[in-house]
Amino acid sequence: MDIHEALYTTRMMRRLRPDPIPLDTQARILDAAVRAPNGGNTQRWHFVAVDDRELIREFAQLFRRARAIEYEKFSAGAGPMVATAPGADPTTHAETMCRMQGSGNYLADHFEEIPLLLFVFAIDDLGGANIYPAIWSALLAARAEGVGGVMTMVLRNFKDEVNELLGVPVEEGWEMSAMLTLGYPRGKWGVAANRRPVHEVSSRNGWGKPFGIEVPQPLWP
Ligand SMILES: Cc1cc2nc3c(=O)[nH]c(=O)nc-3n(C[C@H](O)[C@H](O)[C@H](O)COP(=O)(O)O)c2cc1C
Repeated sequence: MDIHEALYTTRMMRRLRPDPIPLDTQARILDAAVRAPNGGNTQRWHFVAVDDRELIREFAQLFRRARAIEYEKFSAGAGPMVATAPGADPTTHAETMCRMQGSGNYLADHFEEIPLLLFVFAIDDLGGANIYPAIWSALLAARAEGVGGVMTMVLRNFKDEVNELLGVPVEEGWEMSAMLTLGYPRGKWGVAANRRPVHEVSSRNGWGKPFGIEVPQPLWP
């Protein structure tokens, strides 16, 4: 797959088919992920793939409870989903949140059907900086395999339960950075067009000065 196609169309896919992801496909996804940059090449990461149906049922309960906590925060005007970036259109944000809640509901309601969960652990992930390159590489590599998914953080509301269920050696410093839900999407891949254009979010030689070129439409395809 052309790298630009992967970069432009790796969307978060929440409607997944239950078909299993073959082991060799999973191997290619993780083998790409471990090529990612990381500070000092210390590779303090660990990936726990979960395809045991009983475990997935347990995580489904936790996921729904964790999501309810996040939406409670959102309703109370707190949490990471509330505020738009300064200058962004709040109406567009409200519409996006509405759509995302719809597809998020689907994911939560059909969680038991997800073929594969991928828990990503790190030691001292530097606020995520040291692990997100690997996570994004995994999602791009998955895209190349026709596998879609979502990066989620909500289970961090129940990290003790997650550590217990997966037998994580927390005494070594491992902490869950994210959990990816992975599977073959029911829908079609499309360009992530719902982004503010480059010239609105970039400047040159000083904050707020014109970037020098306008990019009104995505430049791919
Ligand atoms: C740090 C992080 C946490 C996220 N957490 C969730 C989540 O818990 N649930 C979810 O459905 N999507 C989650 N997402 C996906 C975003 O909602 C998604 O990337 C965004 O809405 C843009 O959608 P798109 O990538 O499909 O264009 C997360 C993304 C990031 C980077």
